[in-house]
Formats: sequence, structure tokens, C-alpha cells
Amino acid sequence: MSDIKWLPDGQKTFDKVMAAVPAEMRDTMKPKLLQMLAGKAAGQPVSKEIVEAWVSEDLPEPQRSALMAALGLKTEGEEKAAPVAAAAGWDGNSEALFERMLQEVPDMMREVFRGKLMGIANDKAQGGPIKEEHIYAIVKEVVPEPFKTNILNAYATMGGVDVSKVETILENTPGGQEKVIGVLHAVQEEFGYIPREALVLISQKKDIPLSTLYRLVTSYAAFRLEEPGKHVITVCNGTGCHVCGGSDMLKTIEEKLAGNGAGITLEKVRCLGSCNSSPAIKIDGEIFSGVQAQAKLEAILSE
Ligand code: FES
Repeated sequence: MSDIKWLPDGQKTFDKVMAAVPAEMRDTMKPKLLQMLAGKAAGQPVSKEIVEAWVSEDLPEPQRSALMAALGLKTEGEEKAAPVAAAAGWDGNSEALFERMLQEVPDMMREVFRGKLMGIANDKAQGGPIKEEHIYAIVKEVVPEPFKTNILNAYATMGGVDVSKVETILENTPGGQEKVIGVLHAVQEEFGYIPREALVLISQKKDIPLSTLYRLVTSYAAFRLEEPGKHVITVCNGTGCHVCGGSDMLKTIEEKLAGNGAGITLEKVRCLGSCNSSPAIKIDGEIFSGVQAQAKLEAILSE
């Protein structure tokens, strides 16, 4: 373990760095980052300046740019968070794969990563369109675990979607971009989630950039991008349910699912519209409360 002497502003700046590291990686990354930082400090007390210099000079891309942005530092010669377009367009499903990759990046860092990863993709494409193999290569070479495995698993389960059903939904929903939310709801109702193929088709037919559609879908808790399990449990995180024991119920469910959650999708929403049943929970489309919810959950877990 590193032996670091902190100055108050150094500790505070390092805390900001850690806050920008995705929660799933924090415990694993912290000792490694502290070790790197101790090397940079070389026995001096760690100040804000040392942390900033370490981030700016020693970290690899694209993490360097993302953490510089998190610390409010400008990267020299670069437009901060400026999105870069695919220089010669996309080939096959490469754009959808690229957007799916970005979904693993926390919101606050996504635009910085978009620019950096787009730059890497353009380099790999060497003046031609960005191909699926270029995106796969980026995932394998640049993306750390556990995100790499998440993304590759998501890619492996993409496909096999009957696109004609999406075409029918689009035909039944005439109009322009203002209709897209309705289309997305209909697609989710049809498939249980919003497949990548559906997003690509909606992007083409409604003339909406795929990146905009991904942003839209991920900003609504009601939409999901992965195929759900056999059972879907939706727990309300809203104030009404929280004060009536919703958080305890969520914790209990998470503990139960940790040991026996295969095939079960757990989601959290701000309100299920059933505040008079607080704490409310939706299981496979049906609203339950308290004891009934526990009984239904036990039944699912014992299947
Ligand atoms: S706050 Fe939970 S259902 Fe409304």
C-alpha cells in the first residue's frame, strides 16, 4: 500500500478523481492509482498541483482526458469534450456498436470519451469508413474490465431481431421526430427491450442521429437496452415509497438476488404511479406491496 502524505487540497483533488472513476472500478483502482500517485510525489506531501500533474502527464488516454475534464483542466491543443465525427462514415453496424460501447461510460465523462474513442476509431479506419472490427478492436485494447466483458456480452446477444416488427411500428406511427418516444415505447412493448437493430432503423426512418437516440433511451428509466430476464422486478425509489420502507425492501431484494438472481432483471424507478400502495413494487407488470411483494418474490426465487 502506498505511503502518502497529503496536503488538504491534494486529498480533495484526489477525491475528485476517485469520484469520476466508475463506482464498479473504484475499489480495484484506488490502490493502483495511489501507488502511481506516490511514485509521482516521490516522498513530497501531495498537493493539488501534484495530483493535477500526475493526471495530465502520467495517465493513459482516454482516461487522462476524461479525468482532466473532471478536474476542470483543459487539454492542450484539444477542444474540451468536442465530439468528433466518423471521418469517412460507418460500415455495417459499427455505429450501433460504438454507441453501445459508450453506454458503459458514466454520463459525466461520456462526451469526452466519445471524442477520444472516435479519434481512435478514425485512426484504425485509416481514411476509410469505421468498421465493426475496428470497434471490437477498441473494446479489446482500450476498455478496462469489467466494462470490456459487459460490452462483449452485449454484442454477443445482439441480433436475431425481427426487424419487420419495427417497420410495422414505424408505419403505424407516422410523423417525424416528435413521435419517437411513442415509437420507442411500442418497440419496448413488442420486444421487452429496445434492440440495437430497432434503434438503427428508427434513426434512419425518423432522421435522428443514432447518438441522440441512445442518449434519449438512456435518460429515461422506463427504457431498457438489454433483453430482460424471465422475470422483471421494478422497485420504486420515489420519496413516497422510500419513507414507507422502500429502501429496506430494495436492499432485501438485492441481497436475495445476489445469491439466486439468474434470469431476473431488477430495475429501479422514481415512481410507479401507485403511491397509495407504498412501498410499491412491480413484478412482471403487476403492482404489489409489502407482504404480497415478499410472497411473490419468494415464489419467483424458488422456481
Ligand atoms: S413514490 Fe413509489 S409508487 Fe409513487
